[in-house]
Amino acid sequence: MSSSDEVYMVYRELLLPNETHSSESVKFAEEFKFKDDDVLVVTYPKSGTIWMQEILPLVLNGGDLTPVHTIPNWDRVPWLEEKRLAVVVDKLTSPRAMVSHFPYSLMPPSFFTSKAKVIYVMRNPKDIIVSSYYFHQMAGFLDDPGTFDEFIDKFLEGRVMFGKWTDHVKSWRHTELGDRIMYITYEEMVEDLPAALRRISDFLGRNLSDEAIKKIAEHCSFTTMKANTMSNFSLVPKKYMDSDKCPFLRKGIAGDWKNHFNAEQLARFCSVIRKEMESEIVSLPWTLD
Ligand code: A3P
Repeated sequence: MSSSDEVYMVYRELLLPNETHSSESVKFAEEFKFKDDDVLVVTYPKSGTIWMQEILPLVLNGGDLTPVHTIPNWDRVPWLEEKRLAVVVDKLTSPRAMVSHFPYSLMPPSFFTSKAKVIYVMRNPKDIIVSSYYFHQMAGFLDDPGTFDEFIDKFLEGRVMFGKWTDHVKSWRHTELGDRIMYITYEEMVEDLPAALRRISDFLGRNLSDEAIKKIAEHCSFTTMKANTMSNFSLVPKKYMDSDKCPFLRKGIAGDWKNHFNAEQLARFCSVIRKEMESEIVSLPWTLD
């Protein structure tokens, strides 16, 4: 692993991995023309992005497994800000599904004038940092996270890709998007995936049968996705992602933070997040203590 200066570019004060982003790719995102029937999933990294790259095509097409069995996740539901979008954009069929880690303020002008729908996925930041810590160890294109203790400081100070979790969440909770945006949590999806799929399907105006929902839920289970070569990153050379160090689909549970934080770290982490989320705390689905 290399130092952070080599692995990240800085774009509007955010660190973006050089391996997947470039000045051309962010310019492409800035000039991207959203269509009214586009669907965008927005996440802070490690909140369930890849999961939604599996779910979205299936909900949109009524459960036809062809795309998730034949197209790698990064081309199937590409990232708005990554290099691959320019390569695959012409192959996307309507309604196009994309993902983004950008905060609200970095959405391109066409996004605001379109009717494109957004699904914002939130996850408990205590689990995000644990997932991210392991991801930094297996991803050769990211910097060395140091010890978990050191990584806590980096995360809290926003010295990680896409900046502070609190800034990201806050930016997407105060939008003018009205019923164009839906919020869902990773925890809700872990607890009852069919119910979460029903909410997503209703939001997207798809009238899926119970049978279709069941089929999609089975296909999008952690175990099935872990075995899907189009979604588990096994197609990526080991020098970029080394699943021998840690699989990308690592645990897929809520609450793994309990196995990683000591009491002092938890208090430090929660006090910073609590302070920065002061005005939001009542409506957060997890306790921050
Ligand atoms: P863990 O590291 O806690 O296991 P992202 O795609 O945003 O990078 O998020 C990755 C996290 O989502 C990982 O969390 C991964 O295991 C989890 N994930 C991916 N697919 C999942 C699924 N089908 N069920 C539960 N968790 C899933």
